[in-house]
Amino acid sequence: MGAAERELLLEAFDSNWIAPLGEHVDAFEVECSQYLGAKDAAALSSGTAAIHLAFVMLGIGQGDRVYAPSFTFTASVNPILYVGATPVLIDSEAETWGMDPELLAEELEKDAREGTLPKAVLVVHIYGQASKLEEISLLCAKYGVILIEDAAEALGTTQRGKHVGTTGHIGLFSFNGNKIITTSGGGLLVSDDASLVAKARHLASQARVPGPRYEHDALGYNYRLSNLLAAVGRGQLLKIEDRVAARRANFEDYRGRLSQVQGLSFLDEPEEDRGTRWLSVMLIDPDSFGATPNQVQVELEARDIESRPLWMPMHMQPIYRNARMVGGRVCEELFRTGLCLPSGSSLKETDRSRVMEVVESFASPKIRSN
Ligand SMILES: Cc1ncc(COP(=O)(O)O)c(C=O)c1O
Repeated sequence: MGAAERELLLEAFDSNWIAPLGEHVDAFEVECSQYLGAKDAAALSSGTAAIHLAFVMLGIGQGDRVYAPSFTFTASVNPILYVGATPVLIDSEAETWGMDPELLAEELEKDAREGTLPKAVLVVHIYGQASKLEEISLLCAKYGVILIEDAAEALGTTQRGKHVGTTGHIGLFSFNGNKIITTSGGGLLVSDDASLVAKARHLASQARVPGPRYEHDALGYNYRLSNLLAAVGRGQLLKIEDRVAARRANFEDYRGRLSQVQGLSFLDEPEEDRGTRWLSVMLIDPDSFGATPNQVQVELEARDIESRPLWMPMHMQPIYRNARMVGGRVCEELFRTGLCLPSGSSLKETDRSRVMEVVESFASPKIRSN
């Protein structure tokens, strides 16, 4: 948090306009839409709320199937169950770690033949890296299937100059505490269909009809962002591009030094993408490196350095063990071999160096001489 956030928060506080909503919410929505190049945006209480609302508004429910990647955080997929629909999980491809468009194409082709097309595809841009959006959106258009983009981890990520989250029918972002910018908790739903965003605002405000009576014309939710948190978000948004640069610099520093070590590797960025490297992820081949990701994590932890495993694929989770899984080898391997290194936007070179010394300590005899 910085001076701008503090100033805007105090302004909201001093205005005594705490709730419901308020001018900072309106301004935050406009500023986010402008940054993303989206027609409209609704500020919500969380990214999870935004996914849930997207499903509700697009009429996804009981009896519908939704294709989603297995390799994601549970909040992407849980809302499929909230609305009573059925998730079908799809493996990642190795170039972006997002949903594999080839597997999706095979499934959709089969579905079209059998008359069982899904209602929607939920694509997730994982760790700030854009999925293969062009292929996936063409497939969705070909088969008339709704596309929803979970860009919770990818604010600031662009593909061919266009922000992720703005290609599908609905896109969503998270301002949770661990994200590249944060309101402590919050989310955003964006769409080029302004009527969908207006509907999201309505449903997120208990579907209350304007007027003196407590009249509600639909099943609503309490999903709006508070005016105080929107003020914080406005201050944070001013710094998004600096944060992207800082996260990318973390990644390049780690990659430059650690990819010299046998058994360590990093995800390349496709030419036309500008990812955020929200988290710097390192892949460890335990056989050639000489240690597992978990052993490295424990060693870092012993020095008060936090690192994390990659997302455990959904098809490996107890709650989704009965879900249909298409493929699975790629995301299982990512889970087995990946480690998220410290990735904060305020890390200094000396911090990263301390991290890398610990990692290198496992492999020192094997560091290549070149
Ligand atoms: C991929 C993904 N989707 C959805 C969410 C949910 O966002 P929130 O925590 O704001 O509900 C998160 C993270 O928190 C996430 O990483």
